Amino acid sequence: MHTEERTFIAVKPDAVQRGLIGEIVKRFETKGYKVIGLKMIRVSDEQAKAHYAEHEGKPFYPRLIRYIQSGPIVAMVIQGYGVVAGARHMMGCTDPNKADMGTIRADFAQVMEYNVVHGSDSPESAEREIAIYFNENELFPEGKCMSELVIESLDAD
Ligand code: RTP
Ligand code: MG
Repeated sequence: MHTEERTFIAVKPDAVQRGLIGEIVKRFETKGYKVIGLKMIRVSDEQAKAHYAEHEGKPFYPRLIRYIQSGPIVAMVIQGYGVVAGARHMMGCTDPNKADMGTIRADFAQVMEYNVVHGSDSPESAEREIAIYFNENELFPEGKCMSELVIESLDAD
């Protein structure tokens, strides 16, 4: 059976500061993924450490922690078929200069230290990262599409 997945996306501080929130959210929405959670937050020390635990000890780790806490992020959860891999494909690879043209990082970023967007790299990472940033009661997976809303409204009369 085919089921929907969900993934954690963050519009990183550089993109928030540059006024790219809408541009980035729009990419995922127009692809057809459903935004089921969204908030602007300052990443706490605990959240930053938990999020990037796999990178602890690497040379770029201190800079990465500074980066993700350098200003507010827009944290979101999006849902859709194959969304974990699909969103990563739309983001492009970590280094914007190696990312395919038309991807978010190729279009909006120059260096990997400021690569504008984060996306979970597997369904397991997605669930782990969603739990770092969201309570389940902040997620709204039950939204209806337009035709369902129209039919419901017409049938109510
Ligand atoms: P992300 O987690 O942000 O979606 O990015 P990613 O999977 O493509 O890359 P990952 O290996 O998880 O690295 C996390 C973030 O750390 C920064 N980075 N800097 N200077 C470096 O060598 C280096 N390598 C990684 C990037 O901001 C990357 O997005
Ligand atoms: Mg990663």
